[in-house]
Amino acid sequence: MFDTRNDLPANTRTKVIELLNARLADAIDLGTQTKHAHWNVKGPHFIALHELFDKVAEDIEDQIDTIAERVTALGGRAHGTLASVARATSLKPYPEDISEGLAHVDALSAALADFGAKVRAGIDAAGKLGDADTADLFTGISRETDKNLWFLEAHLHAKR
Ligand SMILES: [Fe+2]
Repeated sequence: MFDTRNDLPANTRTKVIELLNARLADAIDLGTQTKHAHWNVKGPHFIALHELFDKVAEDIEDQIDTIAERVTALGGRAHGTLASVARATSLKPYPEDISEGLAHVDALSAALADFGAKVRAGIDAAGKLGDADTADLFTGISRETDKNLWFLEAHLHAKR
């Protein structure tokens, strides 16, 4: 922990930093999974899905920066290297053998839903630790994740 005049108690900051770093690893993992889908999707809906996946990846890129910089604002170290993310991510590995559009939508929906649930749990956890700002940060990311999940899942809801 680095010295800071931030008035949140050190004990609170230590626990919140741990929580933030856990979601940082997940967000970076999710970002790479989303780009993988963006690059590799095939099929008749290629261009729509290719562009949608990139929009989702852009949102996640912003979320990554927001989470990491909250860690450093609280006096912590943001663990964002590939090696540390590989150790810390709680997301399942993305299936690497799929290519069809809806298969990617399904796989990415599952990853996004898992991330969303964990971020939503972080709202309460940060609130209980007495850090309303981090609770608010997670609330914003959670709302954005819900929206992106809707954008993905709308492809799965049509009667076929
Ligand atoms: Fe691209």
